Amino acid sequence: MIEMTFDVEDLSVSAKNGKDILNGVTFSLPDGGVHVIMGPNGSGKSTLALTLAGSPDFVVKSGKIEFDGIDLLSLGADERAKKGLFMAFQKQVEIPGVPLKDMIWEAYRVRWSGPGRPSIIDFRKKLSATASMLSFPETFLERGVNEGFSGGEGKKSEVLQMLMLQPKLAILDEVDSGLDVDSLRVVADAIKRFVEDGHSALIITHHFDLLNYIEPDVVYVMKGGKIVDEGDITLARIIEREGYSRWGGE
Ligand SMILES: Nc1ncnc2c1ncn2[C@@H]1O[C@H](COP(=O)(O)OP(=O)(O)OP(=O)(O)O)[C@@H](O)[C@H]1O
Ligand SMILES: [Mg+2]
Repeated sequence: MIEMTFDVEDLSVSAKNGKDILNGVTFSLPDGGVHVIMGPNGSGKSTLALTLAGSPDFVVKSGKIEFDGIDLLSLGADERAKKGLFMAFQKQVEIPGVPLKDMIWEAYRVRWSGPGRPSIIDFRKKLSATASMLSFPETFLERGVNEGFSGGEGKKSEVLQMLMLQPKLAILDEVDSGLDVDSLRVVADAIKRFVEDGHSALIITHHFDLLNYIEPDVVYVMKGGKIVDEGDITLARIIEREGYSRWGGE
């Protein structure tokens, strides 16, 4: 296991328009591993993920986020990435005119700055092999970031970036949504290998298929902008059968 710690304490976040979204979220990944967050639509999962990644769209009103003992809130999004934090977005953002391969190279240079950084030749070889492993056509690497990508192609492009950047902790927001059965298997295998190699993952999902491939260490339930329960895989099985009603109405 690649050592890392991650602690979120009493985090409260609002949207720019003042709407309160997170109301005191507390959880931690003391020794890394695979943690899953499940919760109904609108419960604040993506807001949590975006806040952890440093999105400027949300205002942190109170609370603490520590990654490897460092106060994450004092770091910009780039610095968070450099420290080994990666986020796959639920909604992919198009960056027309910037080829995907150039964007990944820039992120790679930030991640692996300093002595011993792999060369661009090594980068290209690795990119090509990783795209092939994901059945992601190499021609897509020349296209603008997410420009005209289908839903599933966009998800694969996020996983490709994760595999290239080898973050200590990957936050994956619905990376398994909208994938066909073959693509789901490819993506699930890739995530499984990533965590078997000792990386940690915080997985946000509505689907139970992914959890058949990757057994989580901890499952959290989020509702109304709070973590309201935690358990092991059996908690996910309960949600699959019963939904979220046992945690009360909104
Ligand atoms: N920029 C914003 N301005 C105002 N409200 C927002 C903003 N972003 C999110 N919200 C609201 O905050 C709530 C939580 O949204 P969020 O996207 O975090 O939910 P989620 O748990 O990820 O849901 P889903 O499962 O549907 O992806 C929703 O009610 C949403 O409408
Ligand atoms: Mg979401």
